Amino acid sequence: METIEQNYEDFISTVSHELRTPLTSIRGFSQTMLQSWDKLDDESKKKFLKIIEEQSNRLIGLVENMLSVTKLQSSKDNFVYKETNIKPLIEQTVSIVKNQYKTRDFELNFNKNIPPVFTDRDKFQQIMTNLIENAAKYSDDNTTVYIDVNLADCAECVSIKVTDTGIGIDEKDYEKIFTKFSRIDNPLTRKVQGSGLGLFITKNIVEKMHGQISVKSNGNKTTFEVLLPLGSMEDYARAKCSQ
Ligand SMILES: Nc1ncnc2c1ncn2[C@@H]1O[C@H](COP(=O)(O)OP(=O)(O)O)[C@@H](O)[C@H]1O
Ligand SMILES: [Mg+2]
Repeated sequence: METIEQNYEDFISTVSHELRTPLTSIRGFSQTMLQSWDKLDDESKKKFLKIIEEQSNRLIGLVENMLSVTKLQSSKDNFVYKETNIKPLIEQTVSIVKNQYKTRDFELNFNKNIPPVFTDRDKFQQIMTNLIENAAKYSDDNTTVYIDVNLADCAECVSIKVTDTGIGIDEKDYEKIFTKFSRIDNPLTRKVQGSGLGLFITKNIVEKMHGQISVKSNGNKTTFEVLLPLGSMEDYARAKCSQ
């Protein structure tokens, strides 16, 4: 009982903090604009509106993530599996993240022998967005994010690796980062925003798809690898990779 209450308290305090920070800045910047409209030049007004827009997006992202968590934990979250050509989905994700992180380079190496994958498009997109966004977010300007897609050794799974040369992750934190609301305290995570829900959601989705996710970080080079079974639900049972 104590741990449930403790978890609940942690949850409320994290969520309140995550909601309060963007709301405070939205209120602050709109108040400034209303009170000092005539004194502000166009440049400043634009800058303030930009902040209001960014912080609103942050709130929307948080609410969407929280809904994802609640849905994933209930049995109502249906996955719709279809034969899917994953290359355009990954390309689309890359271009969305690229637009957000214009100072990073992105390199996609997609093995041409990959067959269509039996997967849920939206959930697959969610996995890719979280990993590629993190790779860009936790690395510096003028670095490259690599996405390598190959057949896994057992040939019944597709292996998707997302690599960055950013801040790196200590081995002791490998497990922690996949848990709810966990962020690693370092100068960069303090600077960039996040709720610590992305990897928890990602791992949850991957495992519901009978896949696996792992991380390896060596110095500043970090690779997240997702293994997903290629075949249909019946094939999942046989897929060697998910054992
Ligand atoms: N590519 C990465 N390089 C270094 N640290 C990472 C990377 N991806 C995730 N992390 C660490 O794992 C934590 C959890 O990630 P995530 O669940 O996506 O939450 P968020 O990005 O909202 O903080 C991050 O706060 C960060 O400390
Ligand atoms: Mg994240």
